[in-house]
Amino acid sequence: MENLSTRANAPIGILDSGLGGLSVAKAIQDALPRESFIYSADCGYAPWGERDDQYVNDRVDRIVSYLLDRGIKALVIACNTATAVSIARLRRRHTIPIIGIEPAVLPAVKQTKTGTIAVLATPKTIASEKYRSLSAPLKENPALQIIDCPAPGLMQCVEAGEFSSPKTMALLHRYLDLPANKGADTVVLGCTHYPFLSAAIHQVMGSHVTLIDPAPAVARQLKHRLEETHLLNEEALCGSQEFLASDANAEREKVLQRLWQDNVTLEALRV
Ligand code: DGL
Repeated sequence: MENLSTRANAPIGILDSGLGGLSVAKAIQDALPRESFIYSADCGYAPWGERDDQYVNDRVDRIVSYLLDRGIKALVIACNTATAVSIARLRRRHTIPIIGIEPAVLPAVKQTKTGTIAVLATPKTIASEKYRSLSAPLKENPALQIIDCPAPGLMQCVEAGEFSSPKTMALLHRYLDLPANKGADTVVLGCTHYPFLSAAIHQVMGSHVTLIDPAPAVARQLKHRLEETHLLNEEALCGSQEFLASDANAEREKVLQRLWQDNVTLEALRV
């Protein structure tokens, strides 16, 4: 029989196409400080949000197989795009708890006063069946105006550490001027890279606008699943973190350190 206490000591695997999923990893660390995790960023093969399903599934499969070999006890898909494309398939194939992330449209509906909401996400997330089935019933409500804002190029700005460069600001104006002019008071951050652009988004939309980041809800859901499966690490005082990336280099490590706000190292992910 599997030794449950050993399994509870095992790390959690967190994956994203790049460094954006650190916004989710941070929420996990805040909610579950005793847990260890292996963060895997597919920087060398990103973006995923502008590619076809086969490409995303292939990259996700390679990373998940590596993480399973490392003995992870649970998996967090810290990527809206990969959740939309791959999560159902992964859940059919693997028995460990798998937690995903999707644009937080329902919390945005509860929060909006003007009824106008912008959903900022990758083209692939916006075009996905998962997002369509989530947003379509809400779009039928005449009191609501949900404006889809596919945002190619934006994740690359975060990967490059450009949080408010002229290029980043120009892209944000291109995607958000329309919802701003239509009175949007709520922006759904539908890609895990975008919380790192919060200050820039406020600059474009105004400081009164509420940004909805589902990362804390993902961390709560992970905690709930670990409790339910008796996999919560109750022994360690403090978890350890490992950061891996395909095409790891000094520049990426610098961006990682800025985003994580600590002097951590970035190791190579070879899958
Ligand atoms: N962080 C990913 C997401 O949440 C970015 C996707 C991409 O690589 O374009 O969708």
